[in-house]
Amino acid sequence: MTTSPDTLAPLRDFVIGMTRLADDAGLDEPVRIARARGLLATLLRDDTWLPDACAQPHPDFYQQYLLHCDPLERFSVVSFVWGPGQRTPVHNHEVWGLIGMLRGVEIGQRYRREADGVLVADGAAERLEPGDIDVVSPATGDIHVVENAYTDRVSISIHVYGANIGAVKRHVFDPVTGLAKPFVSGYSSAFVPNLWDRSAQVRGQA
Ligand code: FE2
Repeated sequence: MTTSPDTLAPLRDFVIGMTRLADDAGLDEPVRIARARGLLATLLRDDTWLPDACAQPHPDFYQQYLLHCDPLERFSVVSFVWGPGQRTPVHNHEVWGLIGMLRGVEIGQRYRREADGVLVADGAAERLEPGDIDVVSPATGDIHVVENAYTDRVSISIHVYGANIGAVKRHVFDPVTGLAKPFVSGYSSAFVPNLWDRSAQVRGQA
């Protein structure tokens, strides 16, 4: 990682805020999501904190770099890096999630499943510009496809989920038949950014 600890301060502050929010165990999900959304909006105000190592596209696959996972797996923060034209399969999450646009543009299309299992588009496709935030939740709509709006450049979004999302048993769906297949996403990275070297900050206080 080439990013200095001071550069990572916005991400550290976000993680601290999300940890305090997770400690507030009695919150209803809509309130929790609204508060997390406020924290994420602050994180998205500038994009200079994202380590270069967590912003690298892959020629064939969109990348999911874990930025932080709560030790009790109450939330996780992930950098999604979309190469030109890359898109997800139709998938769900099983937990609430926020998608915040950092660089570039994404297009999301929601789906709902009919009683016979067939997928039907749920509303029009939505375009996420930098600073925009989308919400998924089993309570309000949890199936979607996301793609990079650009065919000639990278887009990056910062996601926060109400679990260790890379280890959640969820589903991908055949877009024609609606057939669900089990899927566990994992992560693209073996390391997470070091948020905790605050030595320069502490030395500055001496
Ligand atoms: Fe998703």
